[in-house]
Amino acid sequence: MTTAEPAVVADGLTKTYPGGVRALDGMGVTVAAGTVFGLLGPNGAGKSTTVKILTTLARPDSGTALVAGHDALRHPDRVRRAIGVVAQKSGADPVATGRENLLLQGRLYGGRGAALGRRADELLDRFDLSAAGGRLVRTYSGGMQRRLDVALGLMHRPQVLFLDEPTTGLDPEARTAMWDEISRLAGDEGLTILLTTHYLEEADRLAERIAIVDRGRVVAEGTPDELKGELRGDAVHVELRDTPGEIDAHLLATALREFAAVREVTVDGRRLSARADDGPAAVPQVLTVLEQQGATVASVTVARPSLDDVYLRYAGRRFAEADTDPAGAGAGGAGAKDAVTAGNAGGTR
Ligand SMILES: Nc1ncnc2c1ncn2[C@@H]1O[C@H](COP(=O)(O)OP(=O)(O)O)[C@@H](O)[C@H]1O
Ligand SMILES: [Mg+2]
Repeated sequence: MTTAEPAVVADGLTKTYPGGVRALDGMGVTVAAGTVFGLLGPNGAGKSTTVKILTTLARPDSGTALVAGHDALRHPDRVRRAIGVVAQKSGADPVATGRENLLLQGRLYGGRGAALGRRADELLDRFDLSAAGGRLVRTYSGGMQRRLDVALGLMHRPQVLFLDEPTTGLDPEARTAMWDEISRLAGDEGLTILLTTHYLEEADRLAERIAIVDRGRVVAEGTPDELKGELRGDAVHVELRDTPGEIDAHLLATALREFAAVREVTVDGRRLSARADDGPAAVPQVLTVLEQQGATVASVTVARPSLDDVYLRYAGRRFAEADTDPAGAGAGGAGAKDAVTAGNAGGTR
């Protein structure tokens, strides 16, 4: 138990956009001060809407939001002074230099004089942008631009930093570099970070706690280990050949439970599924047991747990099916492409 007040407490948030899209449906989240918290979910889950409400850029239809001890609905000005925001889309001015962007941001927050310049240079240095600080932002690579976005969010030394999809659209190298930056930030005295992502691996690497968001609410929450722990092991799928003489798949499942090193055996027609700590090692055993029971096997496959499995378990459908945004606000065609990447990233344990 910590006695410090949480940095973010949102409860019962609902929001329906004009046109009837229910973006939030009872969204709630509590983030302990000084921690990194990840909101993980597919496109359209409501992550950005949540961030917009917490950062006072949108109002919910109902619910409460406290950020850094201030009511985001009643005292948005107080919240704004306490937070830094890195939106999903870059807010930097492309026809100003990186350093000019930082100075402007600092002035917006009331910064003046030499201290402002020192802060800008400190952040340029920290984000490996010193050499590029005098160049127009439109000449920056995607990774450089994203690092500048984070620097902008930190210019006025916020208590709570919101990062909305900090690495979406970055190539793998730039993504890894950004992960390193965020990890370092997390070590900063007292800084709380709330980040959103649709990459399991990203949430896994950066967040101390994760909330899986689906259709505007949290469907599962815990540390990465807790969430993945429930999925530990490989999935083993067996397809039985249609055999005369009526083999009872449920009896086979019982035999597997008893004689093979597998668990969570389920039957779906002629298909048996189970989990095993070591899938490849379990396969010969599974085949032997099935053979002893008189069954003929058509195919066996072993699959490592992926984001799909995590998501399937908590949301009841596949990530790729969910990662489409029928309302399509802003996301465009990016959803399907991102879903593929997310599925691959989920392979890491
Ligand atoms: N300004 C808007 N007007 C109408 N619908 C919107 C708007 N912003 C978001 N939505 C819809 O609300 C849902 C949640 O969107 P969003 O919060 O952006 O999800 P995420 O960030 O998880 O992808 C989506 O169906 C999206 O299309
Ligand atoms: Mg979003």
